[in-house]
Amino acid sequence: MERIEKTKLPQHIAIIMDGNGRWSKVNSVSRIEGHRKGAESVRDIVKTCREIGIRYLTLYAFSVENWLRPTKEVRALMGLLEKFLRSELREMEDSGIRLMTIGDIEALPEKVKKLLQKTIEKTSNNNGMVLNLALSYGGRDEIVGAVEKILEDIDAGKIGPADITKETFSDYLHTSDIPDPDLLIRTSGEYRISNFLLWQMAYTEFYFTGTLWPDFRRENLIEAIVDYQERERRFGRTSDQLSGD
Ligand code: FPP
Repeated sequence: MERIEKTKLPQHIAIIMDGNGRWSKVNSVSRIEGHRKGAESVRDIVKTCREIGIRYLTLYAFSVENWLRPTKEVRALMGLLEKFLRSELREMEDSGIRLMTIGDIEALPEKVKKLLQKTIEKTSNNNGMVLNLALSYGGRDEIVGAVEKILEDIDAGKIGPADITKETFSDYLHTSDIPDPDLLIRTSGEYRISNFLLWQMAYTEFYFTGTLWPDFRRENLIEAIVDYQERERRFGRTSDQLSGD
């Protein structure tokens, strides 16, 4: 933690939590056990981000494509999410964490949906950190959904084509209340963005690590933040422009 420069913190960290399945193979346990261990990493990383002072943490917990997994595994993942929400509500309230979600929440089992709504409501006044869970989320679906909503608003006469800009388009995305991620972390040695925050990651710094998600803990996160802080973000400009030369 001492290695982190407090003045250059990423405001928003997004994470593709990958490698639970491979972790289970390496450790000769079931895939579900791998996810259970992954949920422990979730707890550790949420807590660490809060302590460091990260303002927004988005976790890719379940993609639209994940529905295609065996029913048993999907059910286990939903069960872990439910368990997480039940066990962490107190912690979220105590440490000022506000829960938000992105994705097609309507597609989730009724019980999980209700629990999410309750947690979102109960934590809505917290302002220490936003924990944003991407659930049944797909970046392309999100963009298509935004286009549909824009067309509806045009039809209803609320806006005209000239009102559509990069900024107003962002307002139609699920992340309308959340700044774009500064840092994306993907674990398990895969180099893809897998339909995650496609629009929002235009200028995001990417950090890839071979560490499998169940092994990704506090120290690994600190390593990623230190790496990020050593980079120079130019947003298309030259270094001289940024240093004011
Ligand atoms: C990727 O591992 C991980 C997931 C598909 C789901 C992530 C879920 C968790 C970390 C647990 C529950 C979440 C919360 C918020 C409590 P994989 O199965 O794709 O791994 P593999 O590529 O090695 O098979």
